Amino acid sequence: MKTSKKLSWRHLLPGCGSFKETSPPPNIKKQVIKKQNSLMRLSFTDISNSTSPLSPEDLSLSLVGSNLYVFTLAELRSVTHNFSSTNFIGEGGFGPVFKGFIDDKLRQGLSAQKVAVKLLDLDGLQGHKEWLAEVIFLGQLRHPHLVKLIGYCYEDEHRLLVYEFMSRGSLENHLFKRFYASLPWMTRLRIAIGAAKGLAFLHETEKPVIYRDFKASNILLDSDYEAKLSDFGLATDGPEGDDTHVTTRVMGTQGYAAPEYIMTGHLTAKSDVYSFGVVLLELLTGRRSVDKSRPNREQNLVDWARSCLNDPRKISRIMDPKMDGQYSLTGAQKAAALAYQCLSHHPKSRPQMTTVVEMLEPLLNLKDEHSETFVLTVVALENGESEKVNKETEAVKNEQLEPIKERRPHKHHHHPHHHHHRRHRHRGHLSKSVVHSDTALFTKSPRRRAQGA
Ligand SMILES: Nc1ncnc2c1ncn2[C@@H]1O[C@H](COP(=O)(O)OP(=O)(O)OP(=O)(O)O)[C@@H](O)[C@H]1O
Ligand SMILES: [Mg+2]
Repeated sequence: MKTSKKLSWRHLLPGCGSFKETSPPPNIKKQVIKKQNSLMRLSFTDISNSTSPLSPEDLSLSLVGSNLYVFTLAELRSVTHNFSSTNFIGEGGFGPVFKGFIDDKLRQGLSAQKVAVKLLDLDGLQGHKEWLAEVIFLGQLRHPHLVKLIGYCYEDEHRLLVYEFMSRGSLENHLFKRFYASLPWMTRLRIAIGAAKGLAFLHETEKPVIYRDFKASNILLDSDYEAKLSDFGLATDGPEGDDTHVTTRVMGTQGYAAPEYIMTGHLTAKSDVYSFGVVLLELLTGRRSVDKSRPNREQNLVDWARSCLNDPRKISRIMDPKMDGQYSLTGAQKAAALAYQCLSHHPKSRPQMTTVVEMLEPLLNLKDEHSETFVLTVVALENGESEKVNKETEAVKNEQLEPIKERRPHKHHHHPHHHHHRRHRHRGHLSKSVVHSDTALFTKSPRRRAQGA
């Protein structure tokens, strides 16, 4: 547990620590080409188990048919104005993200559009394996609720990813950051449904995928608040044949990871269902899954809310006060009961994601918006007389203020890989007695903690 994450990644993935452009052994190459011929999805497990990394040429060959564009570093420099600070849109564990604009002359068949360019921070804690997972999974899986990967750059030690631009940013920003208008109930519901559809697709695809890092910051929103999952760096191929789970090193984010996964390392699709339950609870309550700035008994959201979830009379106590009571009470009760099931201690009692979608969709039609017109009684004292004032507050319906962009200066934009705003993910401080021996759960970054949100 003392080794750094960087070392453990290298240990986990032989050959990924050094980026020498060696050819993979012939058996891996054959396997990759064979899968392409038979139009089967290229398996991340096959590729990451190879003893040496695929060369850029081999990778692009094996991804033929995935419609991914291969870009040069010079091209991506150009579309982001040399990774300038004005184009900087945020930063996670992988590295900084820049807005860019691609014109229709860059590649035949690629239309002019805004893109998000994510750059691997070479001094950071993530590396080739996370980049490759993103390229392999997102390059081959297409769905309206998965963010679209347009292409990548694999040049010397540089690893970049080019995505469709999601103009509303992450759900995390909308739920927890100041300066963002509160999300209305219907929008929250639509986001939960969209994200659930994305997960259901991954679980039900021919070769199932476990996402493993489902959380509010990995749910991105387009201009219509349509939710799409991003960040496949921790995704893994699901169990095959009669197996019921894969055993992996425990990776993920504290506050979202399922308890049995933390304790045993056994990973199943039901671990994702637990994480979905946590995000659903964040949508209902407007509280972070872990919030150290709250009193002790309120710091862990699931522990704090669990007893209210299955009791319809208690729901209004935990609902996000920013919604001002403007939600369907029946809808909130049903969504809370569903979150309760997703958060069950027993993985088998958790519903499948397709069931979650089926249970959430009808809630969009519930019209018992009893509090849509919320009557606020204000007692105004004037000249010693009391006067009752009834004030109607209108429900904010899908009308959001444009969020104020959170932009931090990017000092060394001349070289994309030298900067000071790296976000480190940290190992969780969990009691050893209950934690799987090889555990690397991440907490929020020091930067995020400092912001307090
Ligand atoms: N395709 C995209 N379009 C628009 N903004 C994006 C896109 N991808 C990422 N971002 C923004 O970039 C920022 C960093 O995202 P990133 O996924 O690297 O990190 P994160 O999700 O915040 O943290 P973590 O590393 O824990 O996943 C986020 O604020 C996100 O909103
Ligand atoms: Mg992310």
